[in-house]
Amino acid sequence: MAKKDDTMKRRILLYAAGSLLVVGTALLLGACGELKSDLPAPGTQKGIHDIGWNDPASTAFHGNVLKQTQYDTETCVICHAKAFTGGTSGQSCFTCHESYPHKPGWADTTSAQSHGNYLRLNMGTLAGCAKCHGTDYAGGTSGTSCYTCHGSYPHKTGWAGAVPASSHGGYLAQTNWKLSECAGCHGKDFKGGTSGVSCFTCHASYPHANEFQLAGGHQFYLYQHGYPLAQCKTCHGATYDGGTVVSVSCMAAGCHVDAGGVKKSPEACNTCHGQFRAVASDRISPAPPKGVLGDSLATSRSVGAHREHLASGTLGKDVKCVECHAVPPQTAAGGHIDTKLPAEVAFNDTLARLASAAGTFQPSPSYNATTQQCSNTYCHGNWKATKATAPVSYQYAYTDSVMMGANNSPVWTAGGVGAACSSCHSLPPTGHLTFPLASCVNCHQGVVNGAGDIIDKSKHINGKVNVFNTERDF
Ligand code: HEC
Ligand code: HEC
Ligand code: HEC
Ligand code: HEC
Ligand code: HEC
Ligand code: HEC
Ligand code: HEC
Ligand code: HEC
Ligand code: HEC
Ligand code: HEC
Ligand code: HEC
Repeated sequence: MAKKDDTMKRRILLYAAGSLLVVGTALLLGACGELKSDLPAPGTQKGIHDIGWNDPASTAFHGNVLKQTQYDTETCVICHAKAFTGGTSGQSCFTCHESYPHKPGWADTTSAQSHGNYLRLNMGTLAGCAKCHGTDYAGGTSGTSCYTCHGSYPHKTGWAGAVPASSHGGYLAQTNWKLSECAGCHGKDFKGGTSGVSCFTCHASYPHANEFQLAGGHQFYLYQHGYPLAQCKTCHGATYDGGTVVSVSCMAAGCHVDAGGVKKSPEACNTCHGQFRAVASDRISPAPPKGVLGDSLATSRSVGAHREHLASGTLGKDVKCVECHAVPPQTAAGGHIDTKLPAEVAFNDTLARLASAAGTFQPSPSYNATTQQCSNTYCHGNWKATKATAPVSYQYAYTDSVMMGANNSPVWTAGGVGAACSSCHSLPPTGHLTFPLASCVNCHQGVVNGAGDIIDKSKHINGKVNVFNTERDF
């Protein structure tokens, strides 16, 4: 209050004195010359206040009068009471404007009488504020803009929409996502705070601050929430390269780019699965697939014996993913990321289900996710070779009408146990003439060497009988 309007103050005080006298006697009033000269001319006064005192269009309007004194209400309290609830005047200020005069603590957010608390308890009364602070809340007659303290509240028309010029997204883009401003009312966790409006009701993944910072980062968040990628796209763009409002690309420096710095989609297979290389219609991996939650130890079921099967095994040919899984043609394909771990293991290719005994013995392989064991696969020894269907010149090797594998049920995470030489078939198999390991090379040359090592992976566990440099179907 730089300067008070002393004239006005004196006038009101004089009215106060005068009115007391009027109540008593008109004579006294007449006797008081000085006082009288200060009183309004006849016809200009209604009740105790000037005519126009209650007319916003009038210069004598109490709002205008108070405005000149920078809202010094010191004199009003004499008759309207300190709390403006009426006092001797019997006229409460609050009958006409519920929230004005603003109570002590109105601008102190720690106070129970803060305007925030008031509004929360009286939601829907923002229109009342508009009367003095302007319908645009930029000041109005009061000259005090709501936006000087909270740049974004009251929220404007279109705030909840998606049109950047008016939306909260557009506003935030301009402030470089200064969320601290929103946190004041929507809570530090953005779950509502004092405003009661949670950001997550409309976009479950934004603001990122909380859940994205948990161990594992956003990839863990994504997994846990069933990969809501469609939602990410609403802000980060249909191709993840930045949206119209959120110019944050997923393919920025260091993120979702290949080793050469070239952009690739977050939906590239190797984003979640480690190194991939496309081979014909299927994919095989030269490195162990990285577990989708980041595990890299062979003792984890995510990694298990992938490497041995896919590339670096010493026993047999490289196995494609499709041998053990339904391979999604693209990330969004059904049955892929819409289901949780463990992965579905299905034997979709020919090897695990290879029929033997001249086509009469059909294995039905299966995988038990609880024991993590494969059972009844051709590969691990669920096969039969029948003497009757063998070439006559080879039938001497049979000690029985049939030779058969050991039908092993290896545990996925048991390390090399399932790959030990005699685990899938005895050396030699049941029903075969007995020979020492060192002599297999004599007849199965090209497959094994004298030390009993497999020397050509393409001839072992390949679904064919390889003997004497010949190859035939089972
Ligand atoms: C001397 C006592 C007194 C003082 C001082 C006083 N008022 Fe009043 N006021 C009254 C009384 C009594 C009424 C009841 C109606 C009437 O008689 O005008 C009233 C009524 C009002 C009304 C309602 C007018 C209407 O027409 O309904 C307003 C607005 C008002 N006062 C505002 C103020 C403001 C603002 C101040 C301080 C700048 C103030 N008053 C100072 C006594 C006073
Ligand atoms: C009758 C007019 C009027 C109404 C209605 C009104 N205000 Fe005010 N408000 C003012 C004036 C005048 C000022 C500046 C002088 C003062 O503090 O009294 C002000 C100041 C404020 C301030 C700043 C206080 C400070 O100490 O800096 C806030 C906050 C505020 N008003 C919020 C509100 C809210 C919220 C509402 C609605 C619930 C509201 N006002 C309704 C007239 C009004
Ligand atoms: C009879 C109704 C009535 C009463 C009682 C009343 N006012 Fe008002 N006052 C209004 C109206 C109408 C406005 C114009 C704004 C609006 O429409 O709310 C207003 C506006 C004001 C403003 C102008 C704020 C600005 O934007 O510059 C002030 C200050 C004010 N009143 C103070 C008081 C005080 C102090 C009291 C009590 C002593 C009081 N009024 C009692 C009706 C009233
Ligand atoms: C009433 C629903 C709703 C609430 C509540 C909500 N938003 Fe939004 N938000 C949207 C809509 C609609 C979009 C437009 C993009 C879209 O379609 O998802 C959006 C987009 C955004 C954007 C991105 C810019 C854009 O427009 O693409 C940001 C940033 C954002 N909101 C932040 C927040 C924050 C912070 C909160 C909580 C303080 C919040 N939102 C609460 C509906 C909401
Ligand atoms: C001063 C308090 C306050 C601040 C600061 C604030 N809000 Fe709000 N917000 C609210 C309140 C209260 C509501 C409930 C409805 C209303 O009054 O508009 C709300 C509602 C919303 C809504 C839903 C609107 C609708 O129509 O459903 C969105 C979206 C929103 N706020 C976003 C934001 C964003 C983004 C920020 C930060 C830039 C922010 N708010 C800052 C108090 C605030
Ligand atoms: C003098 C500064 C100031 C002015 C002016 C001001 N506010 Fe506030 N207001 C605050 C602060 C500080 C908070 C606490 C929240 C925050 O930190 O943003 C707050 C909180 C609120 C809240 C609380 C919402 C909730 O969730 O509890 C509402 C609603 C609100 N203001 C409305 C208004 C309106 C409407 C106006 C204008 C009529 C206004 N404010 C003017 C400082 C101000
Ligand atoms: C409502 C809009 C919105 C949605 C929906 C959204 N984002 Fe964002 N995202 C942003 C904005 C704005 C930024 C930059 C500023 C920030 O982090 O607040 C960002 C930044 C990021 C960042 C880099 C910063 C960080 O926090 O790590 C990642 C990663 C990210 N988003 C991933 C995602 C993913 C994944 C999804 C889908 C689950 C998603 N976003 C959904 C708006 C959104
Ligand atoms: C020899 C059979 C086999 C082959 C070939 C195979 N997998 Fe697996 N895969 C499994 C088994 C068994 C599990 C473990 C299932 C469990 O957790 O119970 C598994 C688990 C997975 C998982 C889930 C674990 C995680 O956290 O990532 C993914 C993804 C996966 N495989 C992808 C692939 C891909 C891609 C390929 C081809 C590059 C492939 N697999 C090849 C048998 C195989
Ligand atoms: C956004 C991460 C993500 C991307 C990108 C992704 N995957 Fe997966 N993938 C997973 C998750 C998570 C699982 C485990 C889901 C389950 O158990 O069903 C999985 C499982 C698999 C499996 C095992 C079978 C299954 O459904 O469980 C194969 C095979 C596979 N993915 C291949 C691919 C191929 C090929 C691509 C590229 C076209 C690809 N993935 C892209 C996350 C991803
Ligand atoms: C993972 C299971 C498995 C393991 C472990 C395994 N084999 Fe075999 N082996 C087979 C299957 C299945 C056949 C049947 C023919 C085929 O598909 O190649 C076979 C056939 C053979 C044959 C006959 C030649 C042929 O390929 O037709 C020889 C010799 C042989 N294995 C030697 C070995 C030796 C030596 C080891 C240890 C270094 C070994 N096997 C370990 C599965 C296995
Ligand atoms: C004297 C030659 C000879 C020796 C030595 C020999 N095998 Fe065989 N093996 C055969 C013949 C012949 C067959 C029958 C091929 C057929 O039915 O077409 C056979 C069949 C097999 C089969 C089943 C069919 C196939 O090829 O997968 C396996 C497995 C096998 N031998 C493994 C071994 C192993 C392991 C050793 C060394 C411990 C060994 N054999 C030593 C001659 C031999």
